[in-house]
Amino acid sequence: MNIDLEKILSQIGCSANKLDNKKEQTSKKIEYVTHYVKEWIRVGCMSSKLNTLSFVDGMSNAGIYRDGDLGTTTLAYSLFLEAAKSYPNMHFNLVFNEIDPIRFKIFKVICHELYVNQCGGREIPNLKLYCSNDDINDFIADLSNHDGLLNKYGSLTLFFIDPYDARTVDIPPLRDYLNNHYCELFFNWFSSDHVRNPNDNAIKSCFSGIEIPAGYDAADYIAKYLSGSKKMYFSFPFRNKNNTELYQIIFVTPSKKGLEKVKEALWSTFSGREYHRNERTACHQTSMFELDEGRDFQKESYGATIRDLILDEFTAKDYSYDEIELFVLRRSMLGPNDILRFVVKPLIKQGVLLKNNRRGKRNYKDDSYRFIKGTGND
Ligand SMILES: C[S@@+](CC[C@H](N)C(=O)[O-])C[C@H]1O[C@@H](n2cnc3c(N)ncnc32)[C@H](O)[C@@H]1O
Repeated sequence: MNIDLEKILSQIGCSANKLDNKKEQTSKKIEYVTHYVKEWIRVGCMSSKLNTLSFVDGMSNAGIYRDGDLGTTTLAYSLFLEAAKSYPNMHFNLVFNEIDPIRFKIFKVICHELYVNQCGGREIPNLKLYCSNDDINDFIADLSNHDGLLNKYGSLTLFFIDPYDARTVDIPPLRDYLNNHYCELFFNWFSSDHVRNPNDNAIKSCFSGIEIPAGYDAADYIAKYLSGSKKMYFSFPFRNKNNTELYQIIFVTPSKKGLEKVKEALWSTFSGREYHRNERTACHQTSMFELDEGRDFQKESYGATIRDLILDEFTAKDYSYDEIELFVLRRSMLGPNDILRFVVKPLIKQGVLLKNNRRGKRNYKDDSYRFIKGTGND
């Protein structure tokens, strides 16, 4: 991308110090979320039921890092520009919020540069950019006033909320919004801040009354809490070189398709690992699991774990393929294309799952299955 960062900074009258340096985990986070956004746009544009896609970043940063690389949301804007040209009947909204006035200004200029670069000044009437310069909690409180934009019929919204710590974003109002609106969320839950400062008043205030039950992993509890009764979640940890957790990117979605696509993004970005760890060990693992047989080995190991969990949780009655699939997507790294090979067929072979063959022996997806207790692992 042809962006003259030095020129932009001098026009705005600020120094490069205003921009963040990109850390290793930041690059992987951007790659992961952007991969999902790319697929989300593709699926959204192919859907006959949708007419509007909105990407909303509540803490967007300047849209560019000190090394000149774009941030997640300016990358999303660039993808929107391309999609808007190819799908003129689809509406695209990019909404960003950033508290820092200089970063806010830089973000707008970067978007303008992208627009000029990619569209040469040609008007793109089906893409709109909305921006605000508020505190994230005011921004969330205000969101319901924008239902005409974000929550109308045929509209799908993806939120990204990416703070530096666990003491900035109030969790209950975010949960309330998610519960009342059809939307998805990537939320950076800063577990390391929470672990290091359990009695910090700002962190407590963000929880405002949420009690994490004893024995619960805080990130898992927050993910479960945010997803409420109507949505599903998957949480992915990032660790530093010393293998200490920094944060988890919690993904919340109302649809199974969302979970399927997030698995694709995870496998593509992290080669099937259960967490990202900064360089020291990740290098070895990458080369090992880039090989197909390494991936199969990895998937077999996830398969064995989830098969045990299934046998613990499912009772001796009929379940649809969809029910088994949803359980696997929510509770393991396996994706939709792994379920037959690594879960259903091995359980049948083990003699603990009976395929009812309602649509014939070869149709697995439209069939129902009965768990046979008292055999296999029991
Ligand atoms: C980790 S960065 C976001 C990175 C961005 N999502 C990306 O992927 O490129 C966090 C941003 O939140 C902003 N921020 C901090 N406190 C805020 C608040 N209370 N409300 C809104 N934005 C805030 C910071 O200025 C910073 O630019």
